[in-house]
Amino acid sequence: MNNNKVLIFDTTLRDGEQAPGASMNENEKLEIAFALERLGVDIIEAGFPVSSKGDFDSVRNVAKHIKGSIVCGLARSIQKDIDAAALALQPAQRGRIHVFLATSKIHLEHKFKKTPDEILQMAVSAVKYARDKMDDIEFSPEDASRSEKDFLYRVIEAVINVGATTVNIPDTVGYSTPAEYGQLITDIKNNVPNINKAIISVHCHDDLGMAVANSLAAIKNGARQAECTINGVGERAGNASMEEIVMALKTRADFYGCTTGIKTQEICRVSRLVSKATGFLVPPNKAIVGGNAFRHESGIHQDGMLKERSTYEIMRPEDVGFVGTGLVLGKHSGRHAFKDRLKNLGVELSEEALEKAFERFKAIADKKKHVFDEDLLAIVEDEGKLGKNAWSLVSLTTTSGTNRIPKVNVALKSAKGKTYKRNSTGDGPIDACYKAIDSITKLKGELLEYSIQSVTHGKDALGEVTVKVKIKDKSVISHGTSTDIIVASAQAYINAVNKILSQGHNVTKSPEKS
Ligand code: KIV
Ligand code: ZN
Repeated sequence: MNNNKVLIFDTTLRDGEQAPGASMNENEKLEIAFALERLGVDIIEAGFPVSSKGDFDSVRNVAKHIKGSIVCGLARSIQKDIDAAALALQPAQRGRIHVFLATSKIHLEHKFKKTPDEILQMAVSAVKYARDKMDDIEFSPEDASRSEKDFLYRVIEAVINVGATTVNIPDTVGYSTPAEYGQLITDIKNNVPNINKAIISVHCHDDLGMAVANSLAAIKNGARQAECTINGVGERAGNASMEEIVMALKTRADFYGCTTGIKTQEICRVSRLVSKATGFLVPPNKAIVGGNAFRHESGIHQDGMLKERSTYEIMRPEDVGFVGTGLVLGKHSGRHAFKDRLKNLGVELSEEALEKAFERFKAIADKKKHVFDEDLLAIVEDEGKLGKNAWSLVSLTTTSGTNRIPKVNVALKSAKGKTYKRNSTGDGPIDACYKAIDSITKLKGELLEYSIQSVTHGKDALGEVTVKVKIKDKSVISHGTSTDIIVASAQAYINAVNKILSQGHNVTKSPEKS
């Protein structure tokens, strides 16, 4: 293996999904896995198979379809976990079992009530057991950064002796600092006699905002696998962000002297996908993928940029697939230009989805003078995923204002082509609207989360609404986009209903006649 290549291990589908409220369904996970494979990720950690049937099925599904990346499943140092991981990974062309066990005194005393020797024995037995099932085994001494170093060295040496091929050093609680963590990697290299038989990996959490800095310090000191997530999603404050690690290594190759196999032009696309699936909006000032990451506002900066880009730009937006607000289409643009532009943005749709997206584009271009790339992506991103919708919005009118009771009139069309209408009132126009939709579909949706952001700048910008809706025991995240924010809100809610119905949840009662 090239000594300077850093393997990228993406754990968006496992540690990323552990972020409160970030759960994704099987289809969304597979779509993200395909995007990660296209991005050039070396290892995709697809889940924790023993934790639930859903997780098991998702890992198996990803293992079945992904060929370009190693697919990994997590397991505690317990036989039933390892059995579940091995079974879920059976269809994988290249699979990896990731076994973990805490090694810090705090965890030993309070979580396990076991002695260091007992823990060492458990780790050895688990790795041996896993190695009998698969050749590619990763071991993580959880809370490594707070573990006693001599014990950590003993555990690492022992697990490598019984077949661990990667040893991961987690900063589980995000406690370490770059200097300390870099030194830990150096110390491991100097004190574990068989360390050259395994790859050293790093896994950092962002509780003190140092996950990326810690990961890079570890790489500088010899780690050759970085565990990270898209947009930095993950437990508590999240994991190290993949896009930041990758672009730091690329932009500062002079300093780190390392490469990755990531096709960086795909980064923003995957970031959008993960944001949509988790419902976690990317803050505008987020490094690499934030909406402002490549925007220059101050006159001095703009002047500098016009004279020479490198005055204020250390990376080119196109190198991360950043979609700017360059004016692209208007109401006179035809189907061909629309299709062409989408192709340039890397979007491929079926003929049917393309036709629907084009109709939506035309409707928006009628209301909105400038249609930007970001608008186009917002318009098309849900097309083609939902298949045939159970419900579609026909019309919506609202009246609301100071000292008025908000009233709405909603008309929805069923899959069979019949139109149903309802009037409703509510605390606000959105509440009224959702009541009317519930009354038509005969489904009682619970709105768990709601957020709105403008897709581009300006008063005529498209509003993009993200909702998390629960119907019976199933919750989904969905989106709606329109120049009218009440329509966008209704559309997001209807998309959520359709998504739940399309997943085969038998929650439909036939709507009453109207
Ligand atoms: O943060 C952590 O320690 C983990 C391990 C399972 C690797 O996620
Ligand atoms: Zn973690």
